[in-house]
Amino acid sequence: MKLFPRLSAALAIACAVGVGAGAAAAQDFAFGNFKEQTGESLWQGICQGCHMPNAQGAVGAGAYPKLAGDPLLASNIYPVMMVLNGHKAMPAFGANLSDAQVAEVVNYLRTHFGNKYNDPVTPAQVKALRGGP
Ligand code: HEC
Repeated sequence: MKLFPRLSAALAIACAVGVGAGAAAAQDFAFGNFKEQTGESLWQGICQGCHMPNAQGAVGAGAYPKLAGDPLLASNIYPVMMVLNGHKAMPAFGANLSDAQVAEVVNYLRTHFGNKYNDPVTPAQVKALRGGP
């Protein structure tokens, strides 16, 4: 659980609140609306808990893919869809992040950790991608 202290703390609170709290309530606890607005603070507040601060990923309780130098990030749509909708063990954050926050964190990821993609995604593009490609 050391890998994502923020999320595990939230889950611990959700568990302490009571067995019998529905799954939806537990999820609200784990993924409350995020206050961070910049790509860097969003990355640090949400993503690095699983993907690691340097985006090298981790294998432990689960497998968290390396996002440093990830060729799949060449598409600016792909990471937006991942953040909005999640996939397998990657949680969906679409309901908890604004279009601007999604654009910020995706643009940060695509221009850091050895990723050099200079076609930033705009909040309007994120808005258009909500609900499907
Ligand atoms: C709870 C852990 C967790 C958190 C938090 C998390 N991810 Fe992930 N992420 C994963 C896992 C697990 C996968 C692999 C999903 C799969 O098997 O398809 C993944 C996959 C991805 C991928 C696809 C990588 C590839 O090569 O296919 C991207 C992009 C990504 N995450 C970005 C982010 C961003 C940006 C954030 C922060 C907003 C974030 N993730 C937060 C666990 C997490």
